[in-house]
Formats: sequence, C-alpha cells, structure tokens
Amino acid sequence: MTARYALIGHPVAHSLSPRIHAAFGEQLGIALQYGLIDATPEAFPSAVAAFGAEGGAGLNVTLPHKEAARALCATLSPRARRCGVVNTLVPGAGGWHGDNTDGIGLVHDLTERHRIDLRARKVLMLGAGGAAHGVAPALLDAGIESLWIVNRTPERADALYDLLGEPGCVHTRYWHDLPNLGVFDMIVNATSAGRTTSSMALPSSLASQRTLAVDLSYGEAAIAFLSWARSVGCETALDGLGMLVEQAAEAFHVWHGERPDTDPVYAELRAGAVALHSAE
Ligand code: ATR
Repeated sequence: MTARYALIGHPVAHSLSPRIHAAFGEQLGIALQYGLIDATPEAFPSAVAAFGAEGGAGLNVTLPHKEAARALCATLSPRARRCGVVNTLVPGAGGWHGDNTDGIGLVHDLTERHRIDLRARKVLMLGAGGAAHGVAPALLDAGIESLWIVNRTPERADALYDLLGEPGCVHTRYWHDLPNLGVFDMIVNATSAGRTTSSMALPSSLASQRTLAVDLSYGEAAIAFLSWARSVGCETALDGLGMLVEQAAEAFHVWHGERPDTDPVYAELRAGAVALHSAE
C-alpha cells in the first residue's frame, strides 16, 4: 500500500503542502499519498490517533495545533524541544516522535535561496505564538546579534524568552515600546494579523532601506505587512512561500531520508503566487 502522509490543521483547505510533497515524491521516484485533515482543537488528539491507527506514515501539523502536537509526542528532536512546538510527526514504536522544520526552512530560504547573511543582525520578532516559537532558535543559531520579541500579549513574549534561555541576546519589549526601539536590520512578522481582520499598526521608525522584512505568511495574508515594509523604504521584503517549500523539504527528508531539489517546486508555486491564500 502507498505510504500515507497528511497535513493536519484548522483550516487546511487552501494548503499547498499536498502539491509540494507530490512534486517532491515525483522528483525522487518515491510513491506517496499526501492528504489534508481539518480538525478542530477538540478533535485534534483523536484525529492524530486515528491517522496513526490506520497506518499513517507521517503528519505535518499547522495552526492552531503546533503546541498541542508537542504535548502528544513521546519523544522530541532537539530542535523541537528548543522551539517548544512541533510541525512534523513521525510514528514510532513508543508513540509519536515530534520534530520542527520551520526554523531550518526559514533559514535555508533566506541564506541559500536569497543569499542573505543573517549574521550580526539586530532582529525584531513581531508575535510570540507557534510561528515565532518555530523560527526563533534557528535564527539565533544562524548568528543573529540580538532577537527582540514584541508581542501584543507580553506574557507570551516572556514565555518564549524563557524557553530560548539566551538572556545575553534575547530581549522582550511591550508593543507600546515599538516607537522607541530604533531601527532593526531585520523584522520578522510572526503574527497572524494578516490572516484575520485585525490590523497591526507599526511605526516607520523601526525600518530603513537596509532593513530586511520577512513575513512568515504568504499570499494574501502577507500583503499588509509587506506593503507597510515597502512603504517605509525596505528594499527587501519577502513572504513565507520559500520557507513553506523549505520546511516541507526538511520534513520530506525526515520521513524519506532523501532531500528534494526545492528550486523547481518553488518556481512553479511562485509563478502562481497571486492565487495563494494563507500560511501553514
Ligand atoms: P501562529 O501559529 O500563526 O503563530 P498563534 O499561536 O495563534 O498563531 O499566534 C498568533 C500571534 O499573532 C500571536 O503572537 C498574537 O498575539 P497575542 O499573543 O497577543 O494574541 C499575534 N497577533 C494576532 N493578531 C495580532 C494583531 N492584530 N496585532 C498584533 N499581534 C497580533
């Protein structure tokens, strides 16, 4: 029987993951089925258990379940433990093994596809939810100088600060401090504001022409932040489509032991980018 994989989230209808994994499998001659499972938070644990009981070979996990996925795991990869959230599940004899490929996906996209040097950058992270947790350790490992976490709800920024455990280079500030923080070399939008109707007002003093602006979402969800970035002069403003493809390639590697060439898949999706809707 063909090995079965799926993305579980809520909502998942517009996900590109089935296309991405099908393309990777075709490229490497690996037969696989990759489906979508829409599960509410209440239904998430039983949906994961049912998928495992039916012989499912691996799951990707997207919002709002990345923290809940971690709680289901019997074992965690070192990078998943550091992030505190899981986006890739592998079945094992003792239960699910959790991994997180978001951070390495973002760093690969920025450093390899876009040839951006992240070292010594002063980085502002907007948001402290699942997406921010997923990428923060990998940014620190990539050699950034400092990470300033600012979240609307300060307790969540503090929790991420505590989890990262690097008080020398990680800082938290209140949202109302944003006008006083100066200019950043890089601003990462890890909020879900672009996916909801809620808006996010940002001061222009955060950015200059040299500031790299990155939205972890893609498609319509990234428009508001990237428009703001361009309006305040950022020359480089990137959405999360490349990260999406790279995190999928890393998950593919975890499951199949082989690494696909992401460039053709990224190029094809980018060509159709106007039709993209969301993030995962
Ligand atoms: P994800 O998995 O996408 O990170 P999440 O865990 O629900 O989703 O986190 C959403 C993040 O976006 C949070 O940091 C949230 O701030 P709160 O913790 O205060 O809720 C942030 N967010 C959502 N809408 C926002 C808005 N309009 N302005 C600022 N931050 C916003």
